[in-house]
Amino acid sequence: MKITQFFTITIMSVMTVSTINAQQKLNPEIEKKIDVLMSKMTLEEKVGQMNQYNGFWDVTGPAPVGGTSEQKYENIKKGLVGSMLTVRGVKEVKAVQKIAVEQTRLGIPLIIGFDVIHGYKTLSPIPLAEAASWDLKAIEKSAETAASEAAASGINWTFGPMMDVSKDARWGRVMEGAGEDSYLGSKVAVARVKGFQGDNTFKSPLRIAATAKHFAAYGFVESALEYNASEVSNNTLFNQVLPPFKAAVDTGLKTVMTSFNTINGIPASGDKYLLRDVLKNKWGFNGFVISDWASIREMIPWGFSKDEKAAAISAVEAGTDMDMEGGIYVPYLIDLVKQGKVKQEFVDDAVRRILRVKYELGLFDNPYRFLDEKREKEVIGSKANREAVLDMAKKSIVLLKNDTNLLPLKKSGQKIVLLGYLAESKNSPLGSWRIAADSNTAVSVLEGMQQYKGNSLNYVKGLELTTVEPTFLTEVQYNTTDKSGFEAAKNAAKDADVVVMVLGEHGFSTGEARSRTNLDLPGLQQEFLEEIYKVNPNIVLVLNNGRPLTISWAAEKIPTIVEAWQLGTETGNAVAQVLYGDYNPSGKLPMSFPRNIGQVPISYNHYSTGRFTNKDNNVFWSHYSDVEKTPLYPFGYGLSYTTFEYSNLKINKKTFSKGGKVEVSVDLKNTGKVTGKEVAQLYIHDEFASVAKPVKELKGFEMVELKAGETKTITFTLTDAELGFYNNQNEFVVEPGSFKVMVGGNSDATLSDKFEVN
Ligand code: BGC
Repeated sequence: MKITQFFTITIMSVMTVSTINAQQKLNPEIEKKIDVLMSKMTLEEKVGQMNQYNGFWDVTGPAPVGGTSEQKYENIKKGLVGSMLTVRGVKEVKAVQKIAVEQTRLGIPLIIGFDVIHGYKTLSPIPLAEAASWDLKAIEKSAETAASEAAASGINWTFGPMMDVSKDARWGRVMEGAGEDSYLGSKVAVARVKGFQGDNTFKSPLRIAATAKHFAAYGFVESALEYNASEVSNNTLFNQVLPPFKAAVDTGLKTVMTSFNTINGIPASGDKYLLRDVLKNKWGFNGFVISDWASIREMIPWGFSKDEKAAAISAVEAGTDMDMEGGIYVPYLIDLVKQGKVKQEFVDDAVRRILRVKYELGLFDNPYRFLDEKREKEVIGSKANREAVLDMAKKSIVLLKNDTNLLPLKKSGQKIVLLGYLAESKNSPLGSWRIAADSNTAVSVLEGMQQYKGNSLNYVKGLELTTVEPTFLTEVQYNTTDKSGFEAAKNAAKDADVVVMVLGEHGFSTGEARSRTNLDLPGLQQEFLEEIYKVNPNIVLVLNNGRPLTISWAAEKIPTIVEAWQLGTETGNAVAQVLYGDYNPSGKLPMSFPRNIGQVPISYNHYSTGRFTNKDNNVFWSHYSDVEKTPLYPFGYGLSYTTFEYSNLKINKKTFSKGGKVEVSVDLKNTGKVTGKEVAQLYIHDEFASVAKPVKELKGFEMVELKAGETKTITFTLTDAELGFYNNQNEFVVEPGSFKVMVGGNSDATLSDKFEVN
C-alpha cells in the first residue's frame, strides 16, 4: 500500500517539474526500472544519489565538508553517495564500486566522473588548439581517443566538453573551449559529445557520458576575472552563449555542469530559469545537472543564500541535481523534505535523472563493465592513440606568417639553431588539464626536430622561462631577471641559416584561475626575441600558448610565425612535421588575436554601431585613437604552404522563404605549388532585423583538400537554422529582409552577394 502511494507521487511529481520533450527520448524500459527502484528507496538513499565526493585528490577548490577518506567510505556504505570524481585506475575504481554495489542496501552503482578535457593519459592538444583545426572528424576522434583511455581506466563520465564561448583572451579558461564563436563552438561541441558518447547506446565499454559545461555565461565573467559575475543580455545569452549547449542536448548529451559565476545576479547553481525552465523544460534535457565544485555552497558567500539550508533549497528547486563536493545536500535536504520545506518532487526528479544516466551507461547490468585490467593495459597509451593525438596536433597548428618562405625548412644542408626553454620542455606542451598524465611525457620540439637528421641542429636554451617549474596547483613564476643565457644564444644564432625560437606561455599559465591582465610574451621573452633579431632576422617564431597573445612587434618584424599552442603528448613530432613540410598547415584561428590588451574583449562578430565605419569622414566614428580598430589576426585566419583563390560566388535563388533552403557556391583554387587544405568559411550579415545584428556571423565552413592548380566548387546550404536568431522575446525567428553573404578564407572574407528572405 505504502509503496504504491510512493510510486504514484513519484510519477506525478516528474510530470509537474519536468515536461518531457521529444528532443531527448526516454527508454520506457529504463523508466519502468527506475520506477521500481525508486519505490524501494528511502529519502536518505535518494538524497545520497545526489551527492558526489571527490576521491583522494583535493584539487580545484576547497573541500569544505567532504570529510576524511574514512568518513567518505562510511557514507558510501550507508548509500549516501551517488558518485565519485577523480578516483581513477581499474583497481581504485573497483574498490569504491564494490562498496557501493556489495555493501549498500540497494547496491546502486556509483557513476565515476573525471576531467577528461584534452585526453586522459595520452594527451591531445588543448581544446582551443583543436578548435583551430576546424576539422570536426579529427576533433570527434580526439574525444573518442580520450574516452577510450578514461573508460579503460574505470571512468564512465567526463566533465567535458567545455563549451563556454569567450571573446576575452585574458580569461584563463579560453584554452578549454572552442573560442569566440558560437557557430564554430556548437559544431565543435557536438563533435566532442559524439566522440565521448558515440551513438549514445554505450554498448561499447570505451564510450563515456559527456558533460556540457559551464552552464552558463562563464566565458563572459566581468573583466575576465575568474569566478566573477556575468552580466549578459538575453540577446547575448540566447544567440551566443547557449547555442553550443542546445546543440549538445540535441545530440543526446547526458549531463550538464553549472558554472561558478552569477548570471545577471543569480548564481548559476541556483538559476531556476536557466536550469529548469530553459534546459530541462524547453529543451527537453532528460539527463542530470551537476554543480561545479562546491558551487552550491558558494551561493552563501555570493550573498544569494543566507546559509547552507537556504543554498540547498535554492539549488534543488533550480534543478541542480547533484552536489559536487559541496557537502550541502546530504546534511540538509533530508530534513528539509521531512519538514515540508523542499517538495519531495524536486528530489525525485533529480534522482530519476541520475539513475537514468546510470541505467543508460549499463552500470546496473554490470557495475564493473568499465573495470577490466587487461583492457586498461591495452588501451592506455596505445600506438593507435598516439597516432590519433599526433594527427590532431598537426591539424591544430596555424601558420600566421611566412613572408620570406623560411618554411618549410629544407631537409638538408641548413644550419638551424633552436632557442628557448619551451623547445626542450617535455612538460609545458602537455597543457593544463592533464591530471592522469605523467609530467614530462610530451615529445619536445627539440626531440621532434632531432629526428630530421639532414640539417645541423644546435639547441641553446638562451632563457629560462620560469624560476621554478610550475604545477597545476601553483602560480606560474616567470623569469624576469636572469638574462645570463642571452650571449650564448646570440653567438649561436648569428651564423645560422634559420633560427627557430619557441616562445610563449607555460602550459600552466592558462586554465582555471589563470586570468592575466597582460598578453605579451611573458617574462623576458620579448627582449630575448628582439636581441636575437638584431643578430639574425631569419627567425621562425613558434608560439606555445593557451590563448591569443599580443604579438604586434613580432607580427611586424619576424618573417615567420607558427601558432603551435600546447599540442599534448605528440607536440614535438607535430611541430617538426609542419616545420619540415611533411604536413602542410591548415589551421585557422578560433579567436581573434588583438593588437594590444586594450582591444580585449575583441571578436569578429561585433556590431556596426550607428556611426560610419571608416575614418575618412571625421574623427567621430567608433574606434580607438591609438590603435587600428581591426585585430592583428582575425578570427578564421591561417595560412598554408600553398595559396588559395576564391571566385565565382553564386547564390542559387534571390529569394528565400521560411522553411526552404538557399545554396551558395564558390570556386576554390589552389594557386600554389603544393597540395594543401583550406577551410572555406561563409559569413552572413542580416542587414535589417528586430534586434541589431553583428556585422558578420559565421554560418558555414568546409575543409577542402586541393592539389596544386586544382579547383573545386564548394556549396554551402543555408536554412532557417542559419538565418534565424533569438529575438528579444527569446523566440527563434526568421525575419524577412536582405541578407549579405560573404565567403573567404577568414572572417575578413570579401567575396559577397545578397539575397532576400520573404
Ligand atoms: C572546474 C570544473 C571541473 C571541476 C572538477 C572545477 O573547479 O571549474 O570545470 O570539472 O572543478 O574538477
